[in-house]
Formats: sequence, C-alpha cells, structure tokens
Amino acid sequence: MEEMKMIHVSGNADEPVFHLTNGLLSYIFTVRQPVGVLEQLYFAKAIRPQADYSYLKIRRHHHGAQVFDDNRLLTYEHMLLEYPVFGTTDFREEAVSVHYPAGDSTSHFRYLSHTLTKEKAQLDGLPQSFSSERDASESLIIRLVDDYSGLELQLNYSIFEGLSLITRSAIYYGSEKETVYLDRAMSSALDLPDHRFELISSYGAWAREMQMERNPLIHGIHEISSRRGTSSHNHNPFIALARPETTEQQGEVYGFNLLYSGNFVNRIEVDSLNRTRLLQGIHPEQFRWKLGAGDVFTTPEAVLVYSDQGLNAMSQTFHDFYRRHLIRSPWLKRERPVLINNWEGTYFDINEEKILEMAAVAKEMGIDLFVLDDGWFGQRDTDNSSLGDWFADLRKLPNGIEGLADQIHEMGLLFGLWFEPEMVNPGTRIWNEHPDWVIHVPGKHRTPSRHQYVLDMGRAEVVDDLYDQISKVLAAAKVDYVKWDMNRYLTEVMSLALAADRQGETLHRFTLGVYALYERLIKRFPDILFESCSSGGGRFDAGMLYYAPQAWASDNSDAISRLKIQYGTSMAYPLQSIGAHVSAVPNHQTGRMTSLALRTAVASFGTFGYELDPRRLSEAEREQIKKDIGAYKAMQALVADGDFYRQHNPFESNLCSWFIVAKDQSKAVAALYTRHFEMYEAWPRLKLEGLDPERLYRVSGPGQSSIERYGDSLMHVGIILDGNDEDASFADRQYLGDFSALIFHIEAVN
Ligand code: DGJ
Repeated sequence: MEEMKMIHVSGNADEPVFHLTNGLLSYIFTVRQPVGVLEQLYFAKAIRPQADYSYLKIRRHHHGAQVFDDNRLLTYEHMLLEYPVFGTTDFREEAVSVHYPAGDSTSHFRYLSHTLTKEKAQLDGLPQSFSSERDASESLIIRLVDDYSGLELQLNYSIFEGLSLITRSAIYYGSEKETVYLDRAMSSALDLPDHRFELISSYGAWAREMQMERNPLIHGIHEISSRRGTSSHNHNPFIALARPETTEQQGEVYGFNLLYSGNFVNRIEVDSLNRTRLLQGIHPEQFRWKLGAGDVFTTPEAVLVYSDQGLNAMSQTFHDFYRRHLIRSPWLKRERPVLINNWEGTYFDINEEKILEMAAVAKEMGIDLFVLDDGWFGQRDTDNSSLGDWFADLRKLPNGIEGLADQIHEMGLLFGLWFEPEMVNPGTRIWNEHPDWVIHVPGKHRTPSRHQYVLDMGRAEVVDDLYDQISKVLAAAKVDYVKWDMNRYLTEVMSLALAADRQGETLHRFTLGVYALYERLIKRFPDILFESCSSGGGRFDAGMLYYAPQAWASDNSDAISRLKIQYGTSMAYPLQSIGAHVSAVPNHQTGRMTSLALRTAVASFGTFGYELDPRRLSEAEREQIKKDIGAYKAMQALVADGDFYRQHNPFESNLCSWFIVAKDQSKAVAALYTRHFEMYEAWPRLKLEGLDPERLYRVSGPGQSSIERYGDSLMHVGIILDGNDEDASFADRQYLGDFSALIFHIEAVN
C-alpha cells in the first residue's frame, strides 16, 4: 500500500484504489478492468483507510447494454463513474466530448498511471488554490489516454489538512496521432449513489444578486449555469446538494464551486436508477477547443465540500479554504481600510474641488480610503463615452490623478481609483485605431449595452495596451486601491484573431486575458488593494478572489435588500470579500427609508464602507458615523477571521440573523434584523453556536444593557429578547418596528 498522510493507494498496479482522507471526509475511487475506466466508490464522511475496498464496488447485475458479450457485470450505465465519456453504454451526461476528424465523438480514456505529490499541479493562466505552510495539501495525479486519438488526460485531485473538501481539475494534452476538438471538458464529474437531495442554488439579476432557492431534485437533467461570458448576476457557480432534513445547523450537504469567472455549468442529472451525477466546468455551449500535437488545455479548478454539520459548516469550510488557500493579496492579513466611494454621492458630476471637499469630511469622520469612481478619464460626462481612454480628464481634474492623489494623501487618506479595463466606447483611440480588437461578428448587428462594447481580451496585444495604459496611471500617482468594474455581458461573440475552427475558444480566451491582465498588474503593484465588480455582483466568484480579495456584492445598497444578498453571498464567500457600504436615504435603488443604525448594522458584516456625499450629512450623523467606524474597527478582526453562522433566513421569514465567533471562542458579535415587524409574534431567541460552553460571557446589547451568561446557556437557551432581566431590556420599544437591527457584542470574561 502506497502512503502519503492523506492519500492512500491500495490494490494492485492494474486496479489501484485511491483513498483521499483527512479524517473529515473520504473520497475513494478505483480503476475498473479490463477497460481501465475510473469508477467512483465513495465520497462522504471519513472512513478509515483499509486494505480491501472491494465491498464498495457495485456489482449487482441490472439489465443493460454490456460492454462485452462475455461480461454481464460490465455496463457503464450501472457504474458510478469518475470521469464519464461520450458514446458508450453510459447514457448519462458526459464529462468529456471529443470531436474526431472522422466526425464522430466516441472516446475511451484508459488509466495509464498515477503520481502522489506534495505539489499541486499548475493550472497555467487560471486561478488556483495553493498549499500553505500552515495546512499542507497533498495531490494525486491520474493519467489516462484516449485509445482512439492518443489524447492524454490528466486528472488532478488535492486534499487539504483540516478542511472537509477536495479540489479537482483536468488537463488535456494533444496527440501527434491526430488533431481533435474538445467540445466539452469538465473540471469534475461526481456520481453519488442516491438522489435524496435538495438543490440549493441562487438566481438573481442586476441589484438582486444571490437570491437563494432550495428545491427537491427530480429525475432528468437540471442545470445552473451562465452563458453570458461572465459568471453573472443570474446564477452563481456555487451550488449545494443537501439532504431534505439538512438545516443551517445540522445534516449532510455537499457544496460545490468553481474557481472561474466565465461561462460555467453545474449540470445535475438524476437517472432512472435514482443516482445523482453532477458535472462542474466551463459551459460546453459556445465552447470548442482545438488540440493538436503540443497543445494543452487546462480546465478551471472545482471545489467539492462535504459537511455533515449543516450549511453553516459547509460555508465555513469554503470561507477558510479561500482565506488560507486561494486569496493571495497581502491585504488578506491587513486591516481593510474603511472606504468612501463617491459613486452614489456624485455619479458623473465630479471635479477636484468637490472630491477634496468630500474627502475632508470623510477624513474628519474617521474614514481611511477615498475611492474615485467612474467619470475621471477621457471626456466621460455620461456613460456613453471614453472607456478605453485611460488618462485623466483635465477639465475636471486640472492636476491630474497624481495631483489629486497627492492632495488626498496629504489629508491622511488613502486613494483609490475606478477602471473598467475590458470595455471600449466608440470614438476612443482603441476604437478608432483597432476596430478588430472589439468582439463582434462582421456584417451582423452589434449590441451596444450601456453604449459600450467588449474588447477581445484573448488577444495579447489588447492586454498589452491596457496594461501599459493602466500601469502608467498607477505608476505616476499614488494609488492604493483599484476598483475593477465590468458592466456588460458578451454578445455576438467572435474573435477576429482566430480562425473559423477556433471561434469556440473565444470566450475562454477572453477570461484568460482578464486573468492575465490582473496577474500582470498585481505583480507590478503588489500592494494595491483590488476590488472586483461587475455592475455590482455580476462576477462575484471564487476565480476573482485569487486576484481581488474583495468584490462589490451588489449595486443595490439598500439595507433590507442587502440582507438577502449578503445572506446568499455568505453561502460560499467569506465576509471579508463582500463589499458592503452605507448609502444615503431614500435609497437610490429601492427608494426605501431606513435608519443609519440599520444601514450600519448590515454593512458591518462585510468589507465596510460608505457610498454617499458626506457633505450632505448632518452634524449629528457625522458624529454618529465617527462612533460607528470605531465600533466597526472593534469587530473588524472577527469579520476577517471569525467563523460565520447564519440563523434566521430572510428568504423564509421576516427576520434575519447571523453571527461571527472568534476562532478562539473569546468573542462573538451577533445581529438580528427585523424586515417586517408583527405584533404578538413571540420574540425570537438568538441561539449562538460555536462558543465554549464552560466559559462565562458578557453580552452587551443595545443601549447600556448587558448580561452575563455561560456559553452553554447562550447556545442552548439563546439570548432571550423578551426576557425579564431588569437591566437587559433588549426588546426595548425603540428597537421594535420594521427595518430594525439589534447588535450584540459577546466577550468572554473568564
Ligand atoms: C457599476 C458599479 O457596480 C458601480 O458601483 C459603479 O462603479 C458604476 N458601475 C460606475 O459606472
């Protein structure tokens, strides 16, 4: 038996069994001979490494098409497959589909060899998780070959210490024998032996991202995907398969995500034998990749989480994984600056004087970073011009970005700047000089969306031009933060740099170009804090986190809408990555009036900031904001590192609640929000989790009230909001009503 700490290989050379386990989960598969096909055996809670796993193999005969006349037991249709192919007796959705020169798509990938390694396989040009000193990872590499074309396939698996997940990816190597086209190349395929699951997924739109849904699986095929060129507002690459009885606090659930920012698919198939197959990867539609000798195609990395302790534990696993093994920015460990962004305060109506006035008030209130949003470049007075002309508009900013940045720094603030690199407006230099750099189909209608068009980021010369322009601005001025926006989807997709038989590569090459530009800017300016954005949360995905440690979660800054958006986003993404700002009322998107206290209480559970014109705040509001920023800074370490728990679900009730507990259990902060208040509904009890039952905690509620309780009481009884503690009337009248928030700070006293 070959051994690493977390990967065990048993069986014989022809039919090895691979068991990945870290004491939290086990992932087991084998090679099925005489065909050399990989067979999935088990993925769930950890079981011990064993000498013989043959009892896991499904060997009961069902009626079906046999692969060979003399072997009644071998029908692919009845096996749990690790990476199914097209054209066999497995009639379910395939992980790979190869288009051969003869015009057919039947392939057969046969196991060749495997390697165990401490190094993760490099996924060139793609976001990818890494091993860290604190928690090592181990990797298993499986090599297969397509009998028919000589195409080689490498399947990569990694497992990490202390985290209940594995990651998977695939790399294809073109063969000298013949040139083929990949019509589908999934990152991961998983067969589970039953279908007693509910699908948890999100849907949304601009300003209404990450709306969570939960539905029973039904027989047939269902997909959660994007075909918009980005991961999109409409669906997120995160999904989960939960047992019907699973709640936030308990039960079995599998969580899935993809480290990718372009078209993706989660395709779920429940077959007639009641098994569930899940494919994760680049969406196969509008995809075709040519592979000849020497060519390599690498899929994005898929993340597969297992939890037997409910959705909160699943989310915490994702959060810890991204914090420890994906986010590279030095800002991961630094205190994030409290920022003010001028967008909702001014929109395009900016000039140096106004910005400096706003910055002065912001500084007085304790804000750390001033972000200048859209409108500072070219001649951009509305959204119909100048994208692609990345130089300062001297009409508005007579001292340029350098002069403005210097003055902002002199005030003691950091300075941030907005870009939308991937786009171009008619009339700009790029548009006039390089019409072929714009994605479009000659002779066919081009859709303008927000008056703008998309650059062909798959072309190296486009990335070079943008890199030169943007780095010139960033090198000349002291810029501490960049907001990278992307405000339209891709339509009429065609690259004028690619031959007809390579047009199916355009979208993936576009995404790779975005990553390449990020990579070059990060390397050149490693200290800049990047925030990604795509009309709010249109590209909020794990791929982006590899480059930008925070993302603007939604253009909807209304606190009540944000409860759902942030609740949904927290399913897979750490709080510190969720850009959340206090904006003015009536809210610019919803028209809703809410208190400053509520807006602050919601934005505090994310990367905190303001998005308004501070000059319009009253004296009293400015004073309050000073205190609020102090309070946020006191809880910021929890937002950065703590374990996040959701409790009252705003998609199901009038309430929303959540809390963060420090990893050492010394502190916590909890929030309960009322979206709509009803009389004579019993007051909810806020049952904390993750505290030390033996420790005594002081709970400070609204006003001056505080109580002391042991961890066991806070977890099993909960904070009683209508209790009779004389001095702890948490349910005081002033906190009742619609759109209200109660915040509790919990601190161990022993
Ligand atoms: C969309 C972003 O989400 C907003 O925050 C803002 O930056 C605008 N674009 C500017 O055009």
